[in-house]
Amino acid sequence: MKKKLFMTYFLIAIATMIAMGVTFIGKSYHSFIKQSEEGYMTQAELLGAILENKLHEEESSLEVFAKTYANDYNVRITIVSKDGEVVAETNADYDDMDNHSNRIEIRKALAGEKYSVKRFSKTLNVECMYCAVPVETESFQGVLRISVPLEELKGLEFGFVKSALMTILVITIIIILMAIYFSNYITNPLDEVTNAARKIANGDLRVKIYTRQNDQIGMLADAFNTMAEKLKENMAALYSRNNELEAILYSMDNGVVAVDDENKIIFCNQEFKALVSREDDDISGLPIYHVLRNQMLYDVVDKVKETEDSISKEGHIYNEEECIMRINGTPLYEEKEDRTVGVLLIFEDVTQIRKLEHMRSDFVSNVSHEFKTPLTSIRGFVDTLKNGAIHDEKFAMKFLDIIDIETERLYNLIQDILLLSEIENNNDYNVKENDVKQIVGDVITLLNPKAKKDVALKYEADAYIRPYSCNADRIKQLMINLVDNAIKYTENGTIIVKCFSDGNFLCLSVEDTGKGIEKESLDRIFERFYRVDKSRSSKTGGTGLGLSIVKHIVEMYNGDIRVESEVLVGTKFIVKLPYTTVQ
Ligand SMILES: Nc1ncnc2c1ncn2[C@@H]1O[C@H](COP(=O)(O)OP(=O)(O)O)[C@@H](O)[C@H]1O
Ligand SMILES: [Mg+2]
Repeated sequence: MKKKLFMTYFLIAIATMIAMGVTFIGKSYHSFIKQSEEGYMTQAELLGAILENKLHEEESSLEVFAKTYANDYNVRITIVSKDGEVVAETNADYDDMDNHSNRIEIRKALAGEKYSVKRFSKTLNVECMYCAVPVETESFQGVLRISVPLEELKGLEFGFVKSALMTILVITIIIILMAIYFSNYITNPLDEVTNAARKIANGDLRVKIYTRQNDQIGMLADAFNTMAEKLKENMAALYSRNNELEAILYSMDNGVVAVDDENKIIFCNQEFKALVSREDDDISGLPIYHVLRNQMLYDVVDKVKETEDSISKEGHIYNEEECIMRINGTPLYEEKEDRTVGVLLIFEDVTQIRKLEHMRSDFVSNVSHEFKTPLTSIRGFVDTLKNGAIHDEKFAMKFLDIIDIETERLYNLIQDILLLSEIENNNDYNVKENDVKQIVGDVITLLNPKAKKDVALKYEADAYIRPYSCNADRIKQLMINLVDNAIKYTENGTIIVKCFSDGNFLCLSVEDTGKGIEKESLDRIFERFYRVDKSRSSKTGGTGLGLSIVKHIVEMYNGDIRVESEVLVGTKFIVKLPYTTVQ
């Protein structure tokens, strides 16, 4: 820009200079030549007049005259008689010279007319200018001619042209300097505006142009400053709006993703990225099918585009681990164009909900089943008694005993279900600092009579155990269930119950030398109603809810339960409960 401006200025000025220079020099040169020609002619006339006078006054030799004045005026003088013969000559021997009557200037002068001409001189062998005037006295009639070599004239011309060129050069330099100044004057503020625009494009909105100019450029700078200010305000508003939207999107538990007409991702939240295991990538602009390959997703996107209506579908998505997703698709409208420009998809993880629903229905059918067995048994024996067995005291007593056992089973079952639901609802009341060593001791005392005669029930506890903040009944229930199982499933050997503190944990363990649990059952024993051996378990009066209750209590206190077991060797349950207050 600066270069262009400078060149324009420069070329215009130079063109003007050349035009002016050519006209001026041409004109001046012309008049200069004319002037010098006229000068020489005047000189010739003057010499002619002097010659006429001299010839009047006294008898004087033409030769002497010519020599004297040629020297004085620094010209060559030739005097020619009326018949064309050279009678005096300063620069050559006139005897050798031919008749001059054919020379134009001589001819003209002999005809009484002064005349000047430029021509090659045979005598001197150079280009010359000749000025001839007629001379007439009583004694002589002829022509006086002066001549000057053009070389001399050229010397004068050169001097003239040199000074003219010098002037042009000086003016040109002045023009260049002015062109630089003016192009800077215009382009510097423009450069500033350009730089500022570049900074804004790079995101720096704090730019401001300072200018003192009041012309168009000043107005441009002012307009630019106002624009930058407005832009800054708009950007700030947009930024905060964007932040709000982003905060909303990011705080959502559901995965949100919007795709355009070509199914490329316009935006998505962190939850969606986590769903497709691309937390750390920028997936905007990628086709959604590259990120998540799932038939249900294709169906939702296609249906929404086809019907331009919201669609919701539920199904399995396999990504690292299987989960059940509900995908809600809604068309994205462009108000101005009144058409859909994409689809907004919300991914809702319903795995947990469906699992719970499944568990609930499982639980109901399990409970009904568990109730049905003892109730059927009770009804059967009541019927048998009614049908006459009541009269046989021995049978009657036996049947009543069975009814009693079944009733107790039912009672235990109801007790366990109630307990489970209470724990599940996180109903933990009566929480206080408890002496766990004491609680476990009480459980041992309570259950000791149930142990078979070949089984030794031992209790090992640290001398001091930090009081643990809990509901004493819960810990008691936990230990009863574990120790009760150990007693139930151990025919002979030892049961060792331990209680100690390990760092910030309260540790409880129950180890027995019983029948053990097979590997494939180990993962399932904490499930509700799960029993390794159904028939045996119902004989021992187990409900299958004991370990499930244990697990819930442990989870309630944010603890952890582990089980190690080997068939026919024994089983060990280890419970670790964290102290909520750090020691
Ligand atoms: N100490 C143990 N030794 C061997 N098997 C055990 C032991 N504790 C639990 N089990 C197995 O785990 C199953 C689930 O236990 P639990 O939930 O307490 O139910 P229940 O005792 O009513 O049968 C039991 O049926 C039993 O097969
Ligand atoms: Mg049990």
